[in-house]
Amino acid sequence: MNVYDASRMEDVLAPMGYGAADGMEGADLVILNTCHIREKAAEKVYSELGRLRQEKAARAGTSRPMRIAVGGCVAQAEGEEILKRAPFVDLVFGPQTYHRLPLMLRELDSRGQAVVDTEFPADDKFDQLPEAGRLDGASAFLTVQEGCDKFCTFCVVPYTRGAEFSRPVDPVLREARLLAGKGAREVTLLGQNVNAYHGAHEDGSEWTLGRLIRELAEIDGLDRIRYTTSYPAEVDDDLIAAHRDVPALMPFLHLPVQSGSDKVLKAMNRRHTAGDYKDIVARLRDAQPDLALSSDFIVGFPGETDRDFEETMSLVREVGFVQAYSFKYSPRPGTPAADMDDQVPEDVKSVRLQELQEELNRQQMAFNETCVGREMQVLFDRPGSREGQLVGRSPYMQAVHATLPATRMGDIVTVMIDRAKPNSLSAVVPGKQEAVA
Ligand code: 5AD
Ligand code: SF4
Repeated sequence: MNVYDASRMEDVLAPMGYGAADGMEGADLVILNTCHIREKAAEKVYSELGRLRQEKAARAGTSRPMRIAVGGCVAQAEGEEILKRAPFVDLVFGPQTYHRLPLMLRELDSRGQAVVDTEFPADDKFDQLPEAGRLDGASAFLTVQEGCDKFCTFCVVPYTRGAEFSRPVDPVLREARLLAGKGAREVTLLGQNVNAYHGAHEDGSEWTLGRLIRELAEIDGLDRIRYTTSYPAEVDDDLIAAHRDVPALMPFLHLPVQSGSDKVLKAMNRRHTAGDYKDIVARLRDAQPDLALSSDFIVGFPGETDRDFEETMSLVREVGFVQAYSFKYSPRPGTPAADMDDQVPEDVKSVRLQELQEELNRQQMAFNETCVGREMQVLFDRPGSREGQLVGRSPYMQAVHATLPATRMGDIVTVMIDRAKPNSLSAVVPGKQEAVA
């Protein structure tokens, strides 16, 4: 979502004459679009600000001064505090106010003093944004939902992104058509809780995510639809049916489970048990037998015992994932879990994370190996690191490398997978002989 937000910031700033710069040296304004989800991400902001401070100081008094803005969830969470720690920052704004960037810049000009705008405005940011401008490649993001009301006890999102909000159906469809018109072949619907989507339709009805996906699949040129991130307890029949009925809906789903222990899931306030998760997966696989799953895991949540962790391992072995993200629990200020007793020591978290990641990596590699010898449709949307090579995504989100002319960029090409690596596949175009690493 930060990638999507950053490109929307570009759209907002374009009428003021701003465009993307290659690096901070060429920039008049540097925006750090920040993430607050774990401590590591948040701390990065301050080390990055240290670098920017030097550049700003070097340019002070020259004809090309530099301004520094901090946007995103760290800005939302820390607000004025950022100015205390980094007084050389000019703008602080949250994820809900970036449509007001031109206003903030004008205020900065007239006041000559740092501007902080981290409200949750009553107006819909999406109404104020210009039409999506830039399209990076054939695969596009489209935010349909924002915010979260679930309040998992470890998570900052409900505080930084605010309450759940679904964009109405019409502007979503309009944006999707616009993206398709600009050459997007794939759209990934975004939301912190994307399957909580319940967008208002002009006829007074409310559309679920499943309904929206069906309609998007009708748009000419949009051959692939994905959505992320989903909350297990809100996977409904409509969405499951879309996996069965809509060929454009890719057979890959990121469905975070966090833990395999019911005790830990309860303490996390996840509203699903390990059994519920397995049931949902079974229903999804029933609808779409080819479905490949990805997930998020947290190890070392307060109170997690060896036995609880073993339950996570056994869920992983039972369900099977083609890729996953796993993290050590990171206490976040203001969240209930940060004040819970029984915090797990760092060394225990490290050992558990390693064991979990070994199993997840093993499963990922095993899945990649099953792909060798298979024909797959790959959407090529990036140049590869080698001359004459393109990189794309398989239906299951694997990166696939193949030797193809640059003119095939943006095409969905049927290729034969000939090699598997831990994080990617390589392929040949049937009829062509040479294989490519
Ligand atoms: N500590 C560790 N991981 C976290 N996540 C969210 N909050 C925390 C935290 N405090 C992880 C969850 C979530 C993903 C986006 O980040 O697994 O699904
Ligand atoms: Fe955070 Fe996801 Fe839980 Fe919402 S559902 S609080 S975004 S982990």
